[in-house]
Amino acid sequence: MRMKKLFITMTTGLVALYFFAFNTPYLQAEKEKAIYVGMDKCKECHPEHVESYLSWKYSRNFRVIQMRKRDHDPGCLPCHTTGYGKPGGFVSVEKTQRMVNKQCESCHGPASLHLKAPTRLEHQETLNIPKNICTSCHSGHKHPGY
Ligand code: HEC
Ligand code: HEC
Ligand code: HEC
Ligand code: HEC
Repeated sequence: MRMKKLFITMTTGLVALYFFAFNTPYLQAEKEKAIYVGMDKCKECHPEHVESYLSWKYSRNFRVIQMRKRDHDPGCLPCHTTGYGKPGGFVSVEKTQRMVNKQCESCHGPASLHLKAPTRLEHQETLNIPKNICTSCHSGHKHPGY
């Protein structure tokens, strides 16, 4: 009787260990979140998008923030840089110069998972543009004085 109990306890323990050891990393991998990578990374495969975006004068407009000496103002950075305060995104002009301006990922979202598997189907959800994306920055009443 006692042996049987011991056996059951051990088996339960092993099963638990198995799940812990093998399934936890699996679950973590599945939950991996995309992070921001910056526009330089898009050139290789979408050169025509990058070129046409850069030819739009508003795509390189961070100087309007710098001219006003607001390039360290957390009140301006969320809309005038890419991924401000988010993993991989803009931190400061000194640390993450490549993330100034709004870029591809401002609308398309963080693209690290897309870079790993650059197909339409596999990471569609990470590149689908949310319906309210434009109004998240273009909200109408934000610039008293500008
Ligand atoms: C290694 C090549 C590669 C890189 C780098 C890459 N892409 Fe892609 N991308 C693709 C391929 C392949 C497709 C699917 C075919 C197509 O639509 O051209 C695609 C499709 C897309 C789509 C359309 C998705 C859809 O549902 O229609 C968007 C948006 C996109 N990429 C954005 C980006 C952005 C932003 C970057 C830079 C951060 C980037 N890509 C970097 C290869 C790449
Ligand atoms: C909620 C998002 C948001 C924040 C926060 C924000 N901006 Fe803007 N900014 C925009 C948008 C969107 C535009 C373009 C459309 C418009 O003017 O309404 C813009 C345009 C501008 C322009 C005009 C650019 C041009 O070439 O016409 C200036 C200058 C500017 N912002 C400065 C600032 C400064 C300085 C701050 C911080 C005090 C700031 N913005 C904070 C979203 C924002
Ligand atoms: C201001 C927001 C915005 C920015 C910035 C932006 N896009 Fe888009 N992009 C869109 C919208 C809107 C569509 C239309 C498709 C949709 O609704 O998903 C689109 C479509 C695409 C597509 C698929 C359709 C096609 O034309 O082939 C690709 C690929 C793409 N963008 C890549 C890029 C890249 C690369 C950059 C940066 C150089 C970029 N986008 C910057 C909003 C944006
Ligand atoms: C990350 C914030 C952000 C998002 C998202 C965004 N914009 Fe903008 N947009 C700006 C800023 C900031 C400017 C002003 C130029 C600058 O300083 O970069 C601007 C400028 C513009 C302009 C030129 C100025 C004007 O008012 O006529 C147009 C047009 C525009 N955006 C359209 C769009 C559309 C359409 C979308 C959605 C597909 C969109 N934007 C998404 C931040 C954003």
